[in-house]
This record gives sequence, structure tokens and C-alpha cells, in this order.
Amino acid sequence: MNSTLPSHVRIVEVGARDGLQNERAVTTRDKVTLIESLAGAGIKDIEAGAFVSPKWVPQMADSSNVIRALDLPTTNLMALTPNLKGAEAAHAVGIKEFAIFTAASEAFCQKNINCSIDQSIARFTDVMAFAKSHNIRVRGYVSCVLGCPYEGDIDPQRVLQVCQKLLDLGCYEVSLGDTIGVGTAKKVDELLDVLLAEIDKSLLAVHFHDTYGQALTNIYTALKRGIATVDSAVAGLGGCPYAKGASGNVATEDVVYLLQGLGIEHGIDLERLAKAGWAICTALNKQPVSKVSLALKNQTTEQ
Ligand code: HMG
Ligand code: MG
Repeated sequence: MNSTLPSHVRIVEVGARDGLQNERAVTTRDKVTLIESLAGAGIKDIEAGAFVSPKWVPQMADSSNVIRALDLPTTNLMALTPNLKGAEAAHAVGIKEFAIFTAASEAFCQKNINCSIDQSIARFTDVMAFAKSHNIRVRGYVSCVLGCPYEGDIDPQRVLQVCQKLLDLGCYEVSLGDTIGVGTAKKVDELLDVLLAEIDKSLLAVHFHDTYGQALTNIYTALKRGIATVDSAVAGLGGCPYAKGASGNVATEDVVYLLQGLGIEHGIDLERLAKAGWAICTALNKQPVSKVSLALKNQTTEQ
């Protein structure tokens, strides 16, 4: 196994989408403030909303208004677009990067987007054609790569097949979702053994939820395999509405601290990031689920 840490890691901040889709509703203004603060902390890639059915995920119903209110010309604002309707709506407010999403588990795909994996890929053909004609790049997500709430263990070969379909469609990158946070370092290595034999590491990102507290270890395992894009959510916000009991993504503050400790460049101001996390948590009436954020807060209150 080849083990080399990347010198720079790109963080894709998903708190305003993956995080807030599974928290109590906050105001459009709270979302705008959050995204502006994240950009102010140096984050360049921010998932700002989801153009999905408001009946399925009401928390994302104001995504158009959120994006319209933002003026961040140097930030890559991204959004989920499950179908052509979503793609058109995202384009109408100036989104320059779409994310399409499917799963390595049939049961999860059905619960999440109401179709089979093959149907989802067929549906994405329209989204890809639309994106291409408008010069929009598209990221792909595969959920349940390390386990499914309905099907249990997932064969890495199935993950490989779905990743390849998304890349063949024209996605510039595929993000590997441990949707319910059940993965362990060994499982990550075993999955990457299969994927990296066929797919270049520059085409993969990791997207780990932290339900069992393994996300940082799993990220470190992926970094050692050369993966250099990591999805995370400020303050560890969120979960997944179609995966009962799944907790939020790994906290961005914790990932940044890990990267700092490893001497890996990331371009993010940790203090400003933590402040952004506290502000949105105040709106949610909760504390950040980030050990780093809590430790920094204790340090400042003790002084
Ligand atoms: P459907 O019911 O099969 O779709 O839903 P439909 O085409 O039959 O449409 C039904 C209704 O939805 C119609 O409205 C459409 O107009 C409307 P009605 O006539 O009933 O009033 N509709 C839409 N409205 C707004 N925007 C749209 C849109 N499309 C249809 N784009 C659909 C299919 C995909 C729309 C639905 O299942 C859906 O929205 N699912 C979203 C689920 C979701 O957002 N899940 C969370 C995000 S994924 C995730 O968190 C995992 C990830 O983080 C990675 C990981 O952790 O693993 C990415
Ligand atoms: Mg997720």
C-alpha cells in the first residue's frame, strides 16, 4: 500500500446544506450570515443549498433566496441538484457547481431520491447535459459507501461501479459518503484498495459522518492514501433525514486542527471558523459538536 500525505487539502464545507437539512429550521438570514462567515474564514468551496423537493426536505426550501442574497465572487458556491428541475433552479440563481447524488445501496437510493440507482444515473443524464451547455461543473456523491441503514455491509465493488458510472457521466470528482458514520479505518482502507486500483485519487473526495466517532481516523486513513479533498460541516452540524440516528458530518474545525497538526496546507482561519460555528449554533440553540471548537472556547473563557 502506498502511503503519502497530500501537501494541500481542499475542504468542501457542507454545513449549510448537509448540516442544516437535518437541523430545526433557521432563517434565511442565519444561513446567509453562516455562509458569509465561512467564506470570511477562508473556505473556498461551500455547499450553499439544495434544489430538492421542499416536501422532502423543507429546511432547504429557501435555497434560491439564500444564494440570491450572497455576493461572494471568489467563493465556489455549490448546490445539490437531483434532477433537471433542480439544475434549472440552481442555474437561475447563478450556481456554478452542481452536485448529483446517488448511492451504493438500492434501498437507501429509493428512500432518498425515490428511484433505483440505475434510474438515478439515467435521470442525471439531463442534468449533465444542462450543466455542460452552461459551463457548470458537476460533482457526484455516492452514499452508503461503508454501510447502509437498510442493507448493512456494502461490497466495495458496488461502490466502484457507481463511482465509475458517475465519472463516465462527466462528474469531475466523486465524493464517498459514509452516510451513517459506521466506517472504520480498516473498512476505509479496504474500500480504497478497490477504488484506487481503478480510479485516480485526484478524482475522489471523502464525506464522512461521525456517528460512531470514527470520522477523523477515517479521514486520516484516506489522507494517507493520497485523497486530498475532504467534506466537513462547521460545528459538526446535521445528519441525514433518510438515515435514522445518523449524526452530522465530521466538524470542519476538527479536520482543520488535524491538518494543521500534520503540516498540511488548508487556507482556513480556525478561529474565524469556530466563531462561525458558534454563531449558527446560537441560532439553533445548541453547542457545536466539535471538540476543537469547545476546547478553543474553554481556553478563551479560562484566560
Ligand atoms: P419524486 O417525488 O420522485 O419526484 O421525488 P417527482 O418528479 O415525481 O416530483 C414530485 C414533486 O416534487 C412535484 O411537485 C415536483 O414538482 C417536485 P408536486 O407536483 O407534487 O407539487 N419536485 C421538485 N421540487 C423542487 N425541486 C426539485 C424538484 N423535483 C421534483 N428539484 C426527488 C424525487 C429527487 C425530487 C425527491 O426524492 C427529493 O427531492 N429528494 C431529496 C432528498 C434529499 O435532499 N436528501 C438529502 C440530501 S442527500 C444526502 O444528504 C447524502 C449526502 O450528504 C452524501 C452522504 O452523506 O452520503 C449527499
Ligand atoms: Mg452527507
